[in-house]
Amino acid sequence: MQTRRKLTHLGSALAIATVSGLQIQVATAQEPAGDVTYAGEVASILNENCVVCHREGGVGPMSLTNYDQVRPWAPLIQMKVANREMPPYAYDHDIGVQNLQADWRMSQDEIDTVVAWVNQGSLQGNLDEMPAMPEVRDLEEWNFADQFGQPDIVLESNPIDVPASGNDLWDKHFVDSGISEDRCIKALQVKPRGDAKTVVHHANTYFAEINEEGTVERRPVTEYAMGKWGEVIPEGVCRTAFADIQIQWDIHMYPGGLGGTAPGTVIEDNVVELGIWLHPEGYESKISQDLATYQLDQGDLFLPPHGTAMTQGFHSFDHPVRIDSFQPHGHLRMNAASLEIFYPETGRTEVISMISDWSATWHHSHLYAPESAPLVPAGAILVTKQWYDNTESNPNNPDPRQWVGWGQRTADEMSHAWIAISHLDDETYEELLAEREQQSAAQRAAD
Ligand code: HEC
Repeated sequence: MQTRRKLTHLGSALAIATVSGLQIQVATAQEPAGDVTYAGEVASILNENCVVCHREGGVGPMSLTNYDQVRPWAPLIQMKVANREMPPYAYDHDIGVQNLQADWRMSQDEIDTVVAWVNQGSLQGNLDEMPAMPEVRDLEEWNFADQFGQPDIVLESNPIDVPASGNDLWDKHFVDSGISEDRCIKALQVKPRGDAKTVVHHANTYFAEINEEGTVERRPVTEYAMGKWGEVIPEGVCRTAFADIQIQWDIHMYPGGLGGTAPGTVIEDNVVELGIWLHPEGYESKISQDLATYQLDQGDLFLPPHGTAMTQGFHSFDHPVRIDSFQPHGHLRMNAASLEIFYPETGRTEVISMISDWSATWHHSHLYAPESAPLVPAGAILVTKQWYDNTESNPNNPDPRQWVGWGQRTADEMSHAWIAISHLDDETYEELLAEREQQSAAQRAAD
């Protein structure tokens, strides 16, 4: 992260954006004209937060890489940024764990700067101050290439042609993993190749074995749903890549695509790739991590026309755990999700994460920074909640006149969350708790 000029001099005179629905009124009165400029402040903010998608060939519908491109969009940029709709990373600011890794949210300072710039006339400013365009990654490059280099293992799904329109499609098949000894995974990314990213709704991978009864036993490798970046496993834990075992692809495609990026054309040879970055041989940890789905009460997931619904799920462990990531899953009617911990001994409930503006076009695995990842004692209860809106005020809703229940199709709904859990023994749990206490004591001393 580069350091940026903070616009503290604008202080309280800075425009205050009041957001109501999609309308935004901005107070402009006391602002000096042209104080904030594109070259001075705004270009570096947009370069860092937007051009990864808003550039030639990127998934964003327009390029925002220079002043001439940005200027006509200024009012809409102001609205999307002030409403926190762009960058697309819905996660509530004022509740739960805020210390996340791979967090796309802009700081309030940055948002205020963009808002003020538009109010002041979206000026270009002094060309000498114009920051250089950062190097942007190749569109087909792996998301973690800068951090970890190329993946150690790349597995491809079998190619499949996806028509331009029609019903949802599923494809399940097995591929050899080529993994010859158990290893610990550092990071994972699932990447639909090229235009496939617009039609692949989910692509999950499982380590799969056929047991003696002839049924497939599977453990998740990772999950992908539209817009997902990838998963980083925290240092000090081991998520195992199992040797000599097959990998099952489970891919759900939505012909024609979903969201602003949909091409609406036939996609031939749709291939999804799984990239696995491994820790070096010999890397060991006594903490094992796994990713699993936690179901919410799907019996209650039944939406009448123009109606709403809410589902809840509960889960407890007989040993202490650390929650490493949280990714709620639903479809077009789902619009909010939360994760809480209920402590039966005290009756206290703690909100861990709240996403009150969830959208199926962007699935994020919210990765808690290791020093803030919730430590959960044995017996405490994870409470997951998800909300659904089948009314016409939900902008993603294709048809509020329909009855909607649980199902695999994009037009149906789902209700579960993917949660990565580090399983702890009592001793490790106590150690981690003591470390946290030390950190907060040091923090208090520094404050
Ligand atoms: C991860 C990719 C991504 C990032 C990062 C991103 N955008 Fe977008 N943006 C999109 C996509 C895709 C759309 C079209 C679909 C939608 O609205 O969700 C879009 C839509 C928009 C629109 C609406 C365009 C229209 O015609 O309605 C604006 C304005 C916008 N983005 C501005 C920004 C700004 C400003 C930033 C940075 C602060 C940003 N975006 C960051 C992907 C991105």
